[in-house]
Amino acid sequence: MTQIKLFCPATIANLSCGFDVLGLCLDNAGDEMIVRKTEQKGVRITKIVGADLPMETEKNVSGVAALAMLEAYESHFNTIDFGFEIEIYKNIKAGSGIGSSAASSAGAVFGINELLGQPYSRKDLVQFAMQGEKLASGNAHADNVAPALLGGFTLVRSYAPLDIIRIDSPEELFATVVHPQIELKTSDARSVLKQTVSLKSAIMQWGNVGGLIAGLYTKDYDLIGRSLHDEIVEPLRSVLIPGFDLIKQTALENGALGSGISGSGPSIFALSRGKNTADQIAKAISEVYEKMNLPYEIHVSKINPDGVRVL
Ligand code: HSE
Repeated sequence: MTQIKLFCPATIANLSCGFDVLGLCLDNAGDEMIVRKTEQKGVRITKIVGADLPMETEKNVSGVAALAMLEAYESHFNTIDFGFEIEIYKNIKAGSGIGSSAASSAGAVFGINELLGQPYSRKDLVQFAMQGEKLASGNAHADNVAPALLGGFTLVRSYAPLDIIRIDSPEELFATVVHPQIELKTSDARSVLKQTVSLKSAIMQWGNVGGLIAGLYTKDYDLIGRSLHDEIVEPLRSVLIPGFDLIKQTALENGALGSGISGSGPSIFALSRGKNTADQIAKAISEVYEKMNLPYEIHVSKINPDGVRVL
């Protein structure tokens, strides 16, 4: 095999209570990517369609993730006398809050891993894809790249050492995600956060993380909904997102189990039981942005159990 074409899915990180540790994989929103083996050594980005992003390997998240992986590969296995080129077809907008940089980083390392004969597991690839996130936001968070690579829900139990747990999603769980068409850089959305939290807030937050995980395992939709609460990050970030409170309230009034900021925003997500409810929420929150005269994109998606996949 000398070439591979991939679907690189969008993801929702944080899921309200799990800042930097929880994420889920979307099914029908994402980029495409072609990774090709070349005679020339190294990694080159040869084409980017749909976004104005750097072509220089060291400045592109997929390039940086690929280089991190090849460096590790050559030091643990063999040196290689060929290289790779990458074509990126972006659908996920940068600064949208649904894992644009993660999709590119995850796609690059997944594609190269396939062309090398799968020396690494999907879980192993997370550490390399995280280097793309570090370039994009200044922080190597794994809560988008892990679900992009593994599918389903993922929990980063620990960053040092990296310990990622994949969790199956209850079948009827659907996500509705609306992206008001403004760009919010993750680095900016991180700069509004406080570096310390009160014990009272921490107690509520870890109670909800445990509740959400328990709800996923036991398929207890009400428990999932009760646990989608963010005591720490949402109050500081929601002011950056036009119409946030009204969108969240509308989603809940239309049957959402819970709603919050998708990743670092400005996208807002709602989880619900069943596609009909998810569609109803999409309709109702679209009307809010229509009335505000704010352009938006909306996705209704089941949870993608697979992560990045070969097309
Ligand atoms: N956990 C990261 C943040 C996700 O909220 O900054 C960015 O998509």
